[in-house]
This record gives sequence, structure tokens and C-alpha cells, in this order.
Amino acid sequence: MKAAILGTTGYTGMLLLRLLAGHPEITSILPVSSSKPGEPLVDSDPGLGKALKAKISDGKYVSLDTAVAAKPDVVFAALPHLASADICKPFFGNTVVIDLSADFRIKDPALFEAAYDVAPPRPDLLEQAVFGLCEVYRKEVKTADLIANPGCYPTATLLPLLPVLKEFKPEGKIVVNAMSGISGAGRKANMNLIFSQRTENCGAYNPGRIHRHTLEIEKEAKLVSPASKLLFTPHLVPLKRGMAVTTAFDTRDEVSKAHIEELLIDAYKDEPFICLNSKRLPETADVRGSNRCDIGWHTEGNTIYLFSAIDNLVKGASGQAVQNMNIRFGFDETAGLSLAGQV
Ligand SMILES: NC(=O)c1ccc[n+]([C@@H]2O[C@H](COP(=O)([O-])OP(=O)(O)OC[C@H]3O[C@@H](n4cnc5c(N)ncnc54)[C@H](OP(=O)(O)O)[C@@H]3O)[C@@H](O)[C@H]2O)c1
Repeated sequence: MKAAILGTTGYTGMLLLRLLAGHPEITSILPVSSSKPGEPLVDSDPGLGKALKAKISDGKYVSLDTAVAAKPDVVFAALPHLASADICKPFFGNTVVIDLSADFRIKDPALFEAAYDVAPPRPDLLEQAVFGLCEVYRKEVKTADLIANPGCYPTATLLPLLPVLKEFKPEGKIVVNAMSGISGAGRKANMNLIFSQRTENCGAYNPGRIHRHTLEIEKEAKLVSPASKLLFTPHLVPLKRGMAVTTAFDTRDEVSKAHIEELLIDAYKDEPFICLNSKRLPETADVRGSNRCDIGWHTEGNTIYLFSAIDNLVKGASGQAVQNMNIRFGFDETAGLSLAGQV
């Protein structure tokens, strides 16, 4: 099968290259770059070595036009939001598009505008787009031609939260404190992201509704528990990759840890990429390089705590995108994806 990656020189594009190079069903890759068409991949991505030799004959980035002409079976758009929908235009209706940006994640145009300060770029496509949170929307992904890969914070927050919300209604707001590695901000020059600024340094940023993911998380929580309201605070921590999320809310009556465990086991016992651990709280090092979301939990009286860890670039982006492709095309869902974290 032939796959195109748009935005190949960015972090999620670079990881998609590696994942697709090792994918048993992908025979050919079109690495599209708007900034480096015709240049050798190894010049800007030396870490690739010879990984792609068999799948990219001349080892060079290609233009968007070349990729359109090649008629790929699947397109991964690893592009900035608000640019993605426009750049993907030639592929809509002709191939399966898996969009890693936010352009199709929020179906309600008013809600999209509340999050992104502008109207959605392609409102006509919002209805057909499927929110690609694999473990929750697997059935819908199977037939979707436009898959909106979820954001990293929404993935890590929603996976533990949704099964618990089905049973326990929050009394008051759901408090979400989340920590992200620096690669979550993309591979770009930004004074606030340079090493000397971020190393041995951490802090909150864009709290509450200022962060665009608040509404993406909240709209999914509301589908399960309509009164859900979020108090979301993201933090930037001195890690290259990794995301840890702590979610807490009060419910009406006392709740046992065993009851939360039951709900999570019921939701995820057959899921290859979800690891539940009642004895240990998840850490980012456990999941680094894997497509897993590890989940822990705790209760005190009527308060429920949920803990999760993902690799923001894998389960939070490129890995989940490949998982979506596997579901969509009927491949083994774990094909090309790592179950184990890196040592
Ligand atoms: N980083 C994460 O952890 C993460 C997690 C979840 C979702 N996402 C989403 O995934 C998408 C890609 O993220 P990323 O971290 O890979 O971003 P990135 O490192 O900044 O890369 C984006 C790439 O898009 C291409 N591009 C094409 N048109 C562009 C334009 N008008 N402006 C800027 N770049 C343009 C560039 O590649 P070429 O020059 O090769 O075309 C650029 O390298 C984003 O929408 C992001 O929100 C990222």
C-alpha cells in the first residue's frame, strides 16, 4: 500500500516516516515537504540512516503535486492546524486522509471558533470526519475517509476519564493537570522552547479555556456526561517526549478503588495499547516510544483520581494515526507499532 506524509520535516512527520518504514503493509512512502522538495531526506533527518531504502527509491522529499499524481491509498497530514485542511484539498474524496491537526476534530462550527478564534476551514467536511480516538471510535473509523486524529492532551485525558464518567457523574468541575514534553510544541525555532530556557524549568501555560484542547476534551466528556465542565491546566516540563495527566473530580457518593478498576477493566481488557495498573501510578518513561496509554487510579471518599501517561508523539500523534490506518484498512491493529516502551 502507498502512503503519503505531508509535513515530513516536522516531529510527527519524522516519526510517521519511521513507523511506516517498519510497517508490514506499506510498500511505498511519499514524503512530502513544502520546504525541501527534491532534497535528500538524510540531509535534514540523518537519524533515518538506511531505514527507508526499500520504500523510497531515491530517498528524497517530494512535492505535494508529485504525491497527488501518485494517488496514494492513505495520506497522513502532519501539518499545523488551519493550514492542514487547505493543503489536503486535492486528496479529499480521492483517498483516506488521516489529519493530525485540529482542523476536523470539533464538529460544531461555533465551538471550533471558540477554540481557534476563526471559523473552521472546511465546515462542509466536519460532518463526515470521525474523531480518531481509536479505543472509543473504532467502529466509526472502520469506514471513515477523513479521520481527525485527536490531540495529545485529549488522548491522555479522555482514555481514563470516559469509562469512569459513564458511571459516575461529577459534582462540580473535572480538574485536569497535565504535563507535556517540549516536542509537543513542534519542531520550530521559538525562544521559549530553546534548551537553556526549558532545561531544569517547568511551569503552567495557557490555563483553562486559553488552551485549545480544553474544548476538545470537554465536548467528548459531555457526550458521556452532559454537565461535564473542565478545569484544565497544561504544564511544560523538561522532557523531550512524554505526557502525564492527573484528573480528579468529586462524585455524589463514596466510591471504591475496586469499582474504578472494574470500569476500566470492562472498557479496556482486550485493548493492546491500554495498560491498567492498580499498584503503580504511570510514568512517562514507561511508555516512551510505545503506542501505549498507561492508566492508574485512586479514590478518597467521593473523590476519584485518574492518572495516565503517553508518549505525545506516538499515542498522542503519529502512533495513534498509524493505529487509525490499521483499523481503517483492516490490518492487525498493532502492525508497525511498539507495545513496549524504550529502555
Ligand atoms: N508534536 C506533538 O506532540 C503533536 C501531538 C498531537 C498532535 N500534533 C499536531 O500534529 C501536527 C504536526 O505537529 P508537529 O509537532 O509535527 O509540527 P512541526 O514539527 O511544527 O511540523 C509541521 C510541519 O508542517 C509543514 N508545513 C507545511 N505547511 C506549513 C505552514 N503553512 N506552516 C508551518 N509548517 C508547515 C512543515 O514541514 P515541511 O516543510 O516538510 O512541509 C513543518 O515541518 C500539528 O497540527 C500538531 O498540532 C502534534
